[in-house]
Amino acid sequence: MQEKTTSQKPRGALIALEGIDGSGKSTQSRMLAGRMRREGIPCYTTMEPTDSPFGSLIRQILTGRLKTDNRAIAPLFVADRLDHLLNDVNGILHKIEEGTIVITDRYYFSSYAYQGVDLPMDWVIKANEPNSSILRPTVTVFLDITPELALERISANRHQKELFEEKSRLAQVREKYIEAFQVLKGVEQVAVIDGNGSPQEIADAVWKTVSRYMATS
Ligand code: ADP
Ligand code: TYD
Repeated sequence: MQEKTTSQKPRGALIALEGIDGSGKSTQSRMLAGRMRREGIPCYTTMEPTDSPFGSLIRQILTGRLKTDNRAIAPLFVADRLDHLLNDVNGILHKIEEGTIVITDRYYFSSYAYQGVDLPMDWVIKANEPNSSILRPTVTVFLDITPELALERISANRHQKELFEEKSRLAQVREKYIEAFQVLKGVEQVAVIDGNGSPQEIADAVWKTVSRYMATS
């Protein structure tokens, strides 16, 4: 089997949306895709954990149906991400090689931030090297909101909380995101956007950032 690497120069781009739970990623993913379509730019939206068997195993852990050690959860996210990149049906790499702009709701910074709370961050970054060596995002957009607002938004819309949806936990995750951006400064392209405005205000800020990175990539 031929190995897939970035040496087959990608023509599309990968935009990764990041943030704590409830920060507005899926709303902004939808709005960004809408904007791109109106601009005539071919795009594809996707998310992690994925809907593959790896993702479904992860979701069983997130809902508490399955329990395992944090050191076992981290590599599951790595495997789900590798499949997300490489699978032949709807893999990100394939889409990008076709010239599509892929917008993903979460990518490896989610692992650095969430798994980085329980495990040494450099361990998590190293575990994700198979992913980062295949494809780094053109830009990672971090939607920054307070854990208080995130929980308000989550509880207004859902009853059941997942594994990582506690206020103190979300505060730790936010800190870890910021730490990861510092650790990878100069390696990764990251844009921090204030996620406290109206959906349209945030969408305008996201578009301004993304179109700038796409123009220079
Ligand atoms: P995430 O994907 O990051 O968990 P969502 O986009 O699902 O976040 O948003 C969480 C909840 O907050 C949803 O019910 C959504 O409709 C709402 N929401 C999203 N963006 C905003 C915003 N800018 N202002 C107010 N509510 C929002
Ligand atoms: P998601 O369904 O995106 O939650 P939300 O829409 O509320 O943001 O993600 C599910 C959970 O998985 C979320 O709490 C973050 C966690 N997660 C990790 O811990 N590590 C990872 O690498 C990824 C991709 C997600």
